[in-house]
Amino acid sequence: MSRIDWVISSCRLLATIGDEFDRTRPFANLTIGTGIHLEPKTVALLLVLARGGADVVSTGNLNSTQPEAVEYLGARGIRVIGGPTTDPDEHDGFLREVLEARPDIILDNGGDLFARWLENPYPSLRGRTEETTSGRALLAPLRERLARPILVIIDSPIKQFAENEHAVGQSVLESFIRITNRSTNGKHVTVFGYGACGRGVARSFAAARARVSVVEVDPVLRLKACLDGFAVPDRDEAIAAADVIVTVTGAPKVISAADASLLRDGVIVLTGGHLPWEIDVAGLREGHDAIAATDGIETIVLADGRRAHVLTGGHMVNLAGPRPLGNSVESMDIGFALQARCLEAIAAGSVAPEACVVPVPRAVDEAVAAAFVALS
Ligand SMILES: NC(=O)c1ccc[n+]([C@@H]2O[C@H](COP(=O)([O-])OP(=O)(O)OC[C@H]3O[C@@H](n4cnc5c(N)ncnc54)[C@H](O)[C@@H]3O)[C@@H](O)[C@H]2O)c1
Repeated sequence: MSRIDWVISSCRLLATIGDEFDRTRPFANLTIGTGIHLEPKTVALLLVLARGGADVVSTGNLNSTQPEAVEYLGARGIRVIGGPTTDPDEHDGFLREVLEARPDIILDNGGDLFARWLENPYPSLRGRTEETTSGRALLAPLRERLARPILVIIDSPIKQFAENEHAVGQSVLESFIRITNRSTNGKHVTVFGYGACGRGVARSFAAARARVSVVEVDPVLRLKACLDGFAVPDRDEAIAAADVIVTVTGAPKVISAADASLLRDGVIVLTGGHLPWEIDVAGLREGHDAIAATDGIETIVLADGRRAHVLTGGHMVNLAGPRPLGNSVESMDIGFALQARCLEAIAAGSVAPEACVVPVPRAVDEAVAAAFVALS
């Protein structure tokens, strides 16, 4: 069994939706255009859309397309435009080619396809789904010009707790252990950020018997962390005591060169945040010896000989480095079930044009939640 087969067979919710779509064919005679990471879990989603009768035309996101995913989809009749690329111009060409197919519905990730549709809008577009917060931020000011249903998957409460809270916590912990082969028992772990992701990370390390403290700039969430049982020391004190520092804030330079004097010898620093800017790796390297390793650990030797180890170059630890697996299949199964049901609702015309840049409809949340519990 290939990894893609394993993932598809683990997506039980998508499998039941696929069986239903074989009968109901909600996307018959419709083209769905997608620009989303092409990896095993999205392969499972795109194949389910095809089972629903969609002519799927897809391309990946910049720098994340997996060749096996492209090959697997191609062998099953899904049109994949382009392949892995780190060249923004080439990627731009792939996205434009997807739009040349005049998709009736767009499944977007980060607003890539939508931004280009706006340059040359065609009227037959029925609506779209958007997977991410950054895509929502791009679309919200444009509601007037859009006048079409646009459902934002990340704004489902299910997505927030199933993926950001539970799955990110597990996969950041799993990545720390996989990359370092170090234990967590008794270690002082400091988590920066106590949003949905930070809560999950703090809880996962605590469950793995670490001594976890939380640094959070929002006093309300700091109180929450405190009531949840975590130490909430001042940031400098937390850094100085930490064996492991994890940032999950979305903010830049949370750990910077100015913190070098505080770092404990042997500290391991990693991020679960989306952008590779939470740890200022370049700043920490400056003026110091850096010993790069090929397996995701870089050691920076500070002036007095103390060593700081940075994981995966300061990129999202669960999606970079050796054998990155990302979040659990189950969490993506739930998230992609929301996608499939939202696309079905748009295809059926049951979402009003006024539902433009809005969260997943409550009825969809309820149906997906009930279906997952029924399978558990
Ligand atoms: N690794 C993954 O698979 C994955 C999945 C989903 C989201 N993310 C990313 O994780 C990050 C956090 O997501 P979230 O949903 O928890 O966001 P969030 O906005 O809910 O929480 C971030 C928290 O960090 C706090 N914060 C900001 N700057 C800080 C600082 N300097 N020190 C301490 N606290 C600070 C904020 O007050 C906020 O409470 C984002 O970058 C998001 O894109 C990663």
